Amino acid sequence: MEVIIAETPDAVGRIAARIIAETVRIKPDAVLGLATGSSPMVVYAELARMRHATEIDLAATRGFALDEYVGLAPGHPASYAAVVQREIAEPLGMMFENVTVPDGGRPDHEQACREFEAAISDSGGIDVQLLGIGTNGHIGFNEPTSSLTSRTRIKTLTEQTRADNARFFNTAAEVPRHCITQGLGTILEAGQLILVAQGKGKARALAAAIEGPLSSMCPASLLQLHPRATVVVDEEAASQLSLADYYRYAFSSKPV
Ligand code: F6R
Repeated sequence: MEVIIAETPDAVGRIAARIIAETVRIKPDAVLGLATGSSPMVVYAELARMRHATEIDLAATRGFALDEYVGLAPGHPASYAAVVQREIAEPLGMMFENVTVPDGGRPDHEQACREFEAAISDSGGIDVQLLGIGTNGHIGFNEPTSSLTSRTRIKTLTEQTRADNARFFNTAAEVPRHCITQGLGTILEAGQLILVAQGKGKARALAAAIEGPLSSMCPASLLQLHPRATVVVDEEAASQLSLADYYRYAFSSKPV
């Protein structure tokens, strides 16, 4: 796992965007795994800047969202389908019809999950998966104790996650209790993983994910199993990493 400590949250965005841009330059129709939430927004902002500067063309890329709430009204502004369209596909110049979001509105959740997994397989697989991390160590909405081999399925959100995400809704009570999320086994199959995190609130979960034991109690520790995992964090998020100096040294002396 490569750990890159950036000086500022914006620098996190620039570094992660550069990794994604490298993939897209080699493979213009790359399949991107798209995280939502606040952490990856700096990455999307930088990709949008690169697009406007004609440094990158994302029009042929395809995408898969990581997760979706269950039971929100279609078009709800906090649904990840709406967020992906408004805050990712449009500013990045991706075709929204080429982006698949788990369908949280279907009564037959199991079938919706099977179809989502089949769509990932049919695309040839996700080339690069962008991830955020929850304060409890979740990735996607794989809450602690999620099976490390899990596939896309319905999950119950923890009260911690519901409280953390209440800022995206008018009231805390409006936050759904359930979601559909890519499984940890699904995420592990992506060609490359990039996890971004900013702020002190993520420091404890991040240290557990990078330097703690591989454990379903910290689902983000799954990154330890992936041969191409990069973690890009700001100083505050890195503040509990015991090997921070080593990560800085390794990055600054990286062979070219
Ligand atoms: C969102 C997702 C979640 C978030 C995590 C962090 O698609 O899968 O794992 O990445 O909850 O959320 P923020 O970035 O809002 O702190």
